[in-house]
Amino acid sequence: MVQRRKFHQSLTVQERFHKAIPGGSHTYAKGDDQYPEFYAPYIESGKGCRVWDLDGNEFIEYGMGLRAVNLGHAFEPVIAAAHQQMLKGINFSRPAMLELETAEAFLNLVPGAEMVKFAKNGSDCTTAAIKLARAVTGKSKIAICGDHPFFSIDDWFIGATKVNAGIPQSTKDLTLKFKFNDIKSVERLFNKNEGEIACIIMEPEKYEPLDLEFASALQELCKKNNTLFILDEMITGFRWHKGGAQTLYNIQPDLSTFGKAMGNGFAVAALAGKREYMELGGLYHDKERVFLLSTTHGAEGHALAAANAVMDFYQQEDVVEHMRVQGERLRTGLEKAIEEHQLQGFIGVHGHPACLVFSTRNQDQQPSQPFRTLFMQECIKRGLVAPNIVNSFAHKSADTDLTIEIMSEAMAVYRNALDEGVSNYLEGRSVQPVYRKWNHEHRNKT
Ligand SMILES: Cc1ncc(COP(=O)(O)O)c(C=O)c1O
Repeated sequence: MVQRRKFHQSLTVQERFHKAIPGGSHTYAKGDDQYPEFYAPYIESGKGCRVWDLDGNEFIEYGMGLRAVNLGHAFEPVIAAAHQQMLKGINFSRPAMLELETAEAFLNLVPGAEMVKFAKNGSDCTTAAIKLARAVTGKSKIAICGDHPFFSIDDWFIGATKVNAGIPQSTKDLTLKFKFNDIKSVERLFNKNEGEIACIIMEPEKYEPLDLEFASALQELCKKNNTLFILDEMITGFRWHKGGAQTLYNIQPDLSTFGKAMGNGFAVAALAGKREYMELGGLYHDKERVFLLSTTHGAEGHALAAANAVMDFYQQEDVVEHMRVQGERLRTGLEKAIEEHQLQGFIGVHGHPACLVFSTRNQDQQPSQPFRTLFMQECIKRGLVAPNIVNSFAHKSADTDLTIEIMSEAMAVYRNALDEGVSNYLEGRSVQPVYRKWNHEHRNKT
């Protein structure tokens, strides 16, 4: 039995967080409602794949800063590069040479892209891609993959979720949805909105593998309809392949967006794409100008130095292969544990090995938030913070094996809860989906 933790300090500061910050967190995905009540640790520090909370508890962490920290927390070569840059100054009145060097290093890594522009957040880049597509095509509607959970904090995307207060209907009406790997759903959109769709945006892959025939038919449809094809590589970039999933699958999107792991936790994101489109944001053409990504902190020196160090490291070490191997080890171990506890059909492990997630189902084999909460509760108690099981270069075999051991113990409790009722084991309220209209709408559902 793995030693259990106490959470007094974290519980003590919780109210202060909510008094100062709406939602008690600057990012909804990190919020209390995503974690079991009484088991939502506040983090003090991290190193590699481990984090320590205010109570001094040590945890193995998964998810790693919403998939941003691919090389591990406080990764020395990246920290050193950022620190060196800070000593030289990080923001000037004219571009620093570092901006060109980082752009060239990025374009070298992602051969499908001809130009790139940096920003701090992925949302800024996907939003810029949408604007550019609208400017290029002169059309207003956009088609997003409805199976992919997040593209931007901006209205064109949040307007298409349940939590869409404050967004005008006219904006909501412009966002259409298609289904992943379902070319008929795309054809239907083009037929119904002929001549109106500026772009298609999707992640290259999520939980099910990309059907390459779908990808090629989709690109054909885009060409035929004068619609730009945008790949959002915020998660797949630096995880599927060092050149992004587009390099792995040999797809050439018109535009693509990167962020997250690019700076190993430092804020840096990128809009990349074909010169003929990106150039519209430039100074030396005769077409109407597009105001394309221009922010005070967009080229902040230490973040770009961090990105350079990340890209360097990816050239030296096969980070992607490491994450794949450890992910497969994790999947195999967890599937064995699921079988041992007779939890087939109740707990599932899904997705790309470097981006695994787990699913939880109740006694009727229906997706269940209370069972998700219970599973997380039992993992956190035992030293594992795992909103998903997305690993990093810092997760070595010993960490993977300890994760399997902890999750296996949590599965024993899960099994009992299936037999005896989840409420007998769940110590607080259930977690809830981020996209909900009201805070308490799911409170009583099992
Ligand atoms: C696929 C995808 N696109 C875009 C974004 C937005 O990136 P950011 O949070 O850096 O604005 C995210 C963030 O989770 C994402 O997962």
